[in-house]
Amino acid sequence: MIDIHDLWKAYDNNPVLKGLTLKVEKGETLVILGRSGVGKSVLLKHIIGIAVADKGYIEVDGVRVSDLRGEKRFQITHNMGMLFQGAALFDSMNIEENTAFFLKQHGNLKTGKRYSKGEIADRVDEALEMVDLAGTQKKMPSDLSGGMRKRAGLARLIVYRPEYLLYDEPTTGLDPITAMQINELIVKTQEQLQATSIVVTHDIISALFVGDRLALHKDGKIAYIDKPDAFLQIDDPVIAFLRKTISEDPRSFRRKRDG
Ligand SMILES: Nc1ncnc2c1ncn2[C@@H]1O[C@H](COP(=O)(O)OP(=O)(O)O)[C@@H](O)[C@H]1O
Ligand SMILES: [Mg+2]
Repeated sequence: MIDIHDLWKAYDNNPVLKGLTLKVEKGETLVILGRSGVGKSVLLKHIIGIAVADKGYIEVDGVRVSDLRGEKRFQITHNMGMLFQGAALFDSMNIEENTAFFLKQHGNLKTGKRYSKGEIADRVDEALEMVDLAGTQKKMPSDLSGGMRKRAGLARLIVYRPEYLLYDEPTTGLDPITAMQINELIVKTQEQLQATSIVVTHDIISALFVGDRLALHKDGKIAYIDKPDAFLQIDDPVIAFLRKTISEDPRSFRRKRDG
């Protein structure tokens, strides 16, 4: 479980997180919705430990990770994988090298032992297969489409089987069919790894497809959190808008604006 309590963070006097509190249950897929710039990526960066809060704490499985630094923190974040917004592949490495990167660096998470070349190759093949990228080992990231790059980014996480998966806008910038493939992959990964996932998005279709619970990040806090059906009924302008986008022909917005 991830327990985030009263988290505060400002950048250059610009408060971004303002007492954010959130609990993520083991095994669930929690979706965090919110407008651009509210601090969704900032929140994920705090959870994975690449940003440090001004105040408040984060506990992962009862360990207060926000107090840990260096190697100790790393041992916990080892267990987490984050799919960054741009997939963040290394451009100079081929897909096989990209996928193997964390395995080569860290070895076995539990025993600390290094993997043999054969083990790494097997696990890379398996991970690429899982994201439908079998046979792309020698391709460079620049040879792949946006959707394939996202999948390669996901393979790089799957390969070391983290218990926690954080996704930052996994479908943004993808066409609707590719976006749906990514949604399906998020669900499949969840099932196969028995992971706990946090998906940050402003794509309500993706949110409903993958989410066990939906949350709205607004004004520096989690304003609401609930199961999908109950969430959609909440009386809030942002949620009302999301509700309309999935229930109305988008042309109705234009008619209203023109009228
Ligand atoms: N490292 C940083 N330094 C200064 N400001 C930052 C930094 N990271 C994020 N911010 C600011 O925090 C706010 C929230 O950013 P972000 O979390 O990226 O939003 P989003 O919800 O779109 O992911 C923005 O105003 C952004 O400019
Ligand atoms: Mg963001």
